Amino acid sequence: MSEPRENFSSRIGFILAAAGSAVGIGNLVGFPVNAAKNGGGAFLIMYAIFVFLICLPVMIAEMAVGRKTAKEPVGAYKTLSGNSSLWGAAGLLGVLTPFMIAVFYMVITVWILGYLVLTITGNLEYLASDGFGEFINSPYLFLAMAVVAAVVNFILVAGVKDGIEKAAKILMPSLFVMLIIMVIFVLSLDNAFAGVKFFIIPDISKITPSVVNGALSQAFFSLSLGMGILITYGSYINRQTNIPSSAKLVAITDTGVAFVAGLMILPAVFSFNPNIVPSELSDSSVSLIFTFLPKIFLALQSSIGYFGASAIAALFFLLVFFAAITSLVSIIEVPVSYLVTEKKHTRKKALSILLMTAGILTIFATVSFGMVAFFTEFTTYAGGTKSFFDVVYDIFYDTILPLNGFLLCVFVSYRWKKNKLSEELALGNDGYIGSWVEKYINFSLGTFIPAIVLIIFINTVAQKFFAVSLFGF
Ligand code: PHE
Repeated sequence: MSEPRENFSSRIGFILAAAGSAVGIGNLVGFPVNAAKNGGGAFLIMYAIFVFLICLPVMIAEMAVGRKTAKEPVGAYKTLSGNSSLWGAAGLLGVLTPFMIAVFYMVITVWILGYLVLTITGNLEYLASDGFGEFINSPYLFLAMAVVAAVVNFILVAGVKDGIEKAAKILMPSLFVMLIIMVIFVLSLDNAFAGVKFFIIPDISKITPSVVNGALSQAFFSLSLGMGILITYGSYINRQTNIPSSAKLVAITDTGVAFVAGLMILPAVFSFNPNIVPSELSDSSVSLIFTFLPKIFLALQSSIGYFGASAIAALFFLLVFFAAITSLVSIIEVPVSYLVTEKKHTRKKALSILLMTAGILTIFATVSFGMVAFFTEFTTYAGGTKSFFDVVYDIFYDTILPLNGFLLCVFVSYRWKKNKLSEELALGNDGYIGSWVEKYINFSLGTFIPAIVLIIFINTVAQKFFAVSLFGF
């Protein structure tokens, strides 16, 4: 039996939910480190340009497709293409991608919860002394997984208004407050401003083609594009909502949080070790969050005591946990919406199907860090052994995401057609037709944006799976 389709109750509810999706682990940790390593202010400017000139049109197009059809990716592509099975397949990819990304994001969220619990229970010292290797193989992770699944289920089963929107309205403001508290605290530490300097002072010489590629991929992921999320969330807004201005606010919030997170992470790193050179920082957010940051927090005990250091660490992990939960909720809503809209299941049923299937895959991904050899040494390509977790990450996050972005641009520009997009975007936005915003969106979506994401896609495939670099980055 299907239920009547719900909507977000207000524009601000929609914006907070979309921003909740966009603000995630990528913003809080990935972005600051990337920026500091790769040119500071020069990276920041380039990133901002990518967000507003390349990603924002894609975000607007996703929301428009969702609202027009009031469907998730499969239904949306089918409806607007007159039931073409080819575009239906593109829609299926748009539902499969979030499903699989949810698997690896879930693993990380479970770890974050584990770290939160361990810091609260007085185990910061253990985490700081390279406890991570042991931690990722702990059987308690399955307990944490059950808790995360229960939280996600609790939010999603309540629906769009009483679940997703309400959670975003509580979690997002709390996140902002926690972030500000952390920044104020961290900036008061010795040597904090050395970190700010590395974050902000531009160094153009660091901007290489691979940095440009990395910045664009980061912006794309950070805004939750190519995952069907904004199509699905867009399907829950009414015709009075001004899509371009809402999308702009989401992008500003996401970028703002990423920037402010830089004022938290880098000063902390520099106060811990004033002589560090940013290029020494690890590339992966995972090792930064789970091995490096606990050491920094523990070092605080010399000034604020073990209890104080644990409290700051707990505040940080709670902040990241909130950010991760709102992202996880958004990504799981896509397949939920698919099962509800296309397969006519109730939300409850859809959620149990998904928690079972994604749950099993999440277990496989969790045990692929040593617990089970089969999943740890799952396969080999490009000369390396890859775990199940790596495979999910490489295929869906790194590779398919830009492909989905490409398909969306082509779909909107050449199948649905630009004048239809303009008509949709003019709802709730008088004066849109004929504006330079309209001209820019229509032109960019049909030309250079798909070209750029296609190049990223081809280059990633060549690099990831065949170990060759086609374009020199
Ligand atoms: N924008 C999120 C981040 O920066 C990415 C994300 C969104 C991941 C939704 C999963 C689900 O972490």
